[in-house]
Amino acid sequence: MKSYSIVTNGIRKIYKKEEGSFLPFRKKSSEVIVALNNVNLSVEEGELFGLLGPNGAGKTTLVKILSTLIIPDEGTALVSGYDILKNPDKVRASIGVVSSGERSLYWKLTAKENLEYFARLYKVPEEVSRKRIKELLAMMELEDRANELVEKYSSGMKQKLAIARAILHDPKVLLLDEPTIGLDPSFSRSIRNFIKEDLNRKQGKTILLTTHYMDEAEQLCDKVAFINKGEIVALDSPEKLKTMIGKNEVLKVTVTNISEETISSLKNLSFVENYNFTYDSSTVEKATIRLYMKDVESNLQELVGVFSRAGCKILSVSIEKPTLEDVFVKLTGEAL
Ligand SMILES: Nc1ncnc2c1ncn2[C@@H]1O[C@H](COP(=O)(O)OP(=O)(O)OP(=O)(O)O)[C@@H](O)[C@H]1O
Ligand SMILES: [Mg+2]
Repeated sequence: MKSYSIVTNGIRKIYKKEEGSFLPFRKKSSEVIVALNNVNLSVEEGELFGLLGPNGAGKTTLVKILSTLIIPDEGTALVSGYDILKNPDKVRASIGVVSSGERSLYWKLTAKENLEYFARLYKVPEEVSRKRIKELLAMMELEDRANELVEKYSSGMKQKLAIARAILHDPKVLLLDEPTIGLDPSFSRSIRNFIKEDLNRKQGKTILLTTHYMDEAEQLCDKVAFINKGEIVALDSPEKLKTMIGKNEVLKVTVTNISEETISSLKNLSFVENYNFTYDSSTVEKATIRLYMKDVESNLQELVGVFSRAGCKILSVSIEKPTLEDVFVKLTGEAL
């Protein structure tokens, strides 16, 4: 029988919009933001589960609810078998959290002092914690700076220390809100590898992580839930999600001299189901467009005609494998 480390049941969270900028006069307006709406998901024991969605989708709100920092307006959840509303202390003792936006470290303490403090708080025996703190500081490449105040740390160094703090007491369930944010590409890679190979595969920890990075989710996660505007829009393994693109192919075209009007006119073509584009950061005239379309071979000529009539120059054309981002665009009509 499957056993689950996290089960959410109809979670809804609304925030009241606040108006005005001067604190004493700030008032709650009657308008609300539905940050989460009827969120149902379950994470199996030992699973690496990714929550993927754009800014403001509700990812952090869900992580805060699961870590008992805030309570939902409706619904509840079980974490490590404990109800977040009835047994928050038990939930807290069983999880390790990397939170985004919340300060999880004392800036007036050194890195080592922070870890020593949290080890005592989590009642890690001293002989265990001494060894573990040493190992974690080495792993996070912070040994040389271990005796400096955290306020003097760069944001990437603080993030590394926050990860060390989250796993210090060896919790079985980890909630990681954008764990690789602010880390340079090379350290991001080693943290991803550590999350998957060590924490998940070797140590069998259940991990729920949030990310904006499609490739991070694709590379790491056994299962992915897409969240958009507070709702789970799809939940499956990355492979299964990609089959949702169906028979459509993804054509990637790089063109110069292209206006947004020309790009948006592409959706009038009968064989184009949807598209997604980015302008080259150095020039707004050069764009890379991903077109989700039927039968590239028979329709390529017509497509090329559209570009040449608009006076655009095609630099490259390739047929790509669908990515998780393509699935997200198909489901929501929005780019991530
Ligand atoms: N304390 C708050 N008061 C009012 N609204 C809030 C509060 N916290 C979050 N929200 C709103 O709830 C929605 C969900 O926010 P949340 O931080 O959960 O999104 P997110 O998916 O983590 O986004 P990001 O990718 O930018 O971190 C947003 O519209 C946000 O403005
Ligand atoms: Mg967030």
